[in-house]
Amino acid sequence: MGFACGREWYTFGMPLLAIETTCDETAAAVVTRGREVLSSVVASQEQLHARWRGVVPELASRAHVERILPVIDEAVARAGIGFAGIEAVAVAVTPGLVGSLLVGLAAAKGIAATFRCPIVGYDHVAAHLYACRLTHGDAIRYPSVGLVASGGHTSLFLVRGPLELDRLGGTIDDAAGEAFDKAAAILGLGYPGGPEIERVAAGGDPRAHRLPRPLASDRERLDLSFSGLKTALRYLVRPPGAPADLPTPQGRERADLAASFQQAAIDAIVAKVDLALAKTGCRCLLVGGGVAANTLLRDSLDELGRRRGVPVFMPPRSLCTDNAAMGAIAWERLEQGADDGLALDVRPGTDRSAARRSDVRSAEPRQGV
Ligand code: KG4
Ligand code: ZN
Repeated sequence: MGFACGREWYTFGMPLLAIETTCDETAAAVVTRGREVLSSVVASQEQLHARWRGVVPELASRAHVERILPVIDEAVARAGIGFAGIEAVAVAVTPGLVGSLLVGLAAAKGIAATFRCPIVGYDHVAAHLYACRLTHGDAIRYPSVGLVASGGHTSLFLVRGPLELDRLGGTIDDAAGEAFDKAAAILGLGYPGGPEIERVAAGGDPRAHRLPRPLASDRERLDLSFSGLKTALRYLVRPPGAPADLPTPQGRERADLAASFQQAAIDAIVAKVDLALAKTGCRCLLVGGGVAANTLLRDSLDELGRRRGVPVFMPPRSLCTDNAAMGAIAWERLEQGADDGLALDVRPGTDRSAARRSDVRSAEPRQGV
């Protein structure tokens, strides 16, 4: 099956083309069966959505339509192959914005039909955790506790295997990244808010304001909540009844607020990861999603891991935020001979109505939902 190209991977057969358009990044990557990333291209829509301080679904879909083909072409070209050199195409089909998902799926189907190769749908959230496998390989042990903290999701999982995720808990309102984005808006900072808060917080005192850590002290539930923290910040910046022309804090005052918010949000997450490790007895922690790019979170989880004697696996920052390299998870099914065929459909929502145990096990896409 392989073809001579002077690279070591050809002995493993041809690589996979993965496509990711769940939200506001248009991404494509080429990954070998040995999980080597030959190329990874991400076209961000941050500029497009910045003025709205959040993702506008219709704008996102239209931008995906414009970018998907150039992004795929570039990924294939950078990998030094042609389309005929692709073993299969993988595409994120759940969860995400329906219009965005459909653009990636249509492109994937076009390639699968033209080049007569298998097509496999994968779960974006499970893929965030699979990003750990790209850098840490077989060092990862199962079962693990998995934390996915991103702009759309914040969940804790019992990870029995790459495709077997049992949801243990997660946010009951805003996702962690969404809270960072809203806090940045309150403080007059740019979008996406996470990196902005982190940058400004570096010059502030995290003990300047005592903000709430909602649910953190509840040692029963593995649920998280960020909306109360966000509201507390809002009232610190603009107390009820404050004049409309009250200026947004600047300089040291803003840095202290950003640092205090960041500390509270990270403390709340780390408390629940600690609880999840205690409740499950797992000896391994996997972390993924955009918020996992946050240095305070990374350092705090590393410290937690040291304290508990549990190895902590986090992807490099570039593989925390949305990318298609993590679509390498599709190899887990392709190696079993999977082919979802051209009837493959998207599943925009996370299925929480089904028993929570099998929440993400549905990484094997259901057809026509
Ligand atoms: O995983 P991701 O790229 O997209 C989703 O699947 O949602 O995550 C994006 C989120 C945004 O809310 C962004 O503000 C947050 O991740 N984020 C961060 C950092 N970098 C990105 N949050 C905190 N600190 C960061 N350094
Ligand atoms: Zn994501």
